[in-house]
Amino acid sequence: MKVSYKVPATTANLGPGFDCLGLALPIYNIITIEETVMPSTGIEVNVMKDFENAELIEELDSIPNDKDNIVYKAVEMLYNLVGQDPSEIKINIKSSIPIAKGLGSSAAVIVGGLMAANDLLGNPADEAALLSIATEAEGHPDNVVPAILGGLVMSSMEDDGSVIYRRLDWPEDWHITVCIPDFELATNISRSVLPEKVPMEDAKFNARRLAMLVHAIDTVDAKLMKSALEDRLHQPYREKLVPGFKEIKEALKHEENVLGTVISGAGPSIVIISQKNNIEKIYQTVKEVWDNLNVHCDIRTLTVEKCGASKVE
Ligand code: HSE
Repeated sequence: MKVSYKVPATTANLGPGFDCLGLALPIYNIITIEETVMPSTGIEVNVMKDFENAELIEELDSIPNDKDNIVYKAVEMLYNLVGQDPSEIKINIKSSIPIAKGLGSSAAVIVGGLMAANDLLGNPADEAALLSIATEAEGHPDNVVPAILGGLVMSSMEDDGSVIYRRLDWPEDWHITVCIPDFELATNISRSVLPEKVPMEDAKFNARRLAMLVHAIDTVDAKLMKSALEDRLHQPYREKLVPGFKEIKEALKHEENVLGTVISGAGPSIVIISQKNNIEKIYQTVKEVWDNLNVHCDIRTLTVEKCGASKVE
């Protein structure tokens, strides 16, 4: 028996929404879980790279293909919940989401593995349980929740492990330009540069921005959004790991119709939010800055994927 799920990429944080805001994007991974019938076959993990320059992604070769694999770990949590052990399973990942680029590739495979395993087990876990397990496996909810549900979602993992979320409607004419550089940044490295504690002024700054951001999205207020897309909790610490980010942000700051430039998740991809037609100018600016730093990039203007993980029939 095998089951496959298609799961979207996600961009998390959107500036001030560190570890709580994320939206789904139309780039997908397909994760298949197969219960092998032969006893003692153990665990098998196969990853098929299906994105540009995939052969250059070293990270893929270091993906564990045993019980240390994140998909296996998430699947194991689910099996344990129903008193079983996934001793013999095959995990196949068809990966179109670039890896280690801040686009939720790990969240997608965790979610796909979990949902496929849940199906194989007869759906013992409801949505709330899946959200909790996926969040625990990933460590924060902002990628896994929109990967499961689709759209733009704000979420919080509570002390008891439950996940509270609310959806927001992304304004139809706000464009999301995702700029993916040819260098990688592992999330654990990007999180390791963050301080344990932040100054109260910075915490207050982000609380204000996040409140503005939610209202700006809700009321499609571009002017407010322009002030809202600022952050002091993670981007200032991560700038040094994303060469070109500061320069691109600065170059687009006064560009008409650009609402903001943020690091996508833990980086290194950069997301530019804009409205109306100045996409050409955005592409040109990003390319110029990264060209000067010898960075090649893939730039795509995308819509929000409103659907979350779905079963592949
Ligand atoms: N909120 C997370 C971070 C997203 O910024 O580290 C990474 O996947």
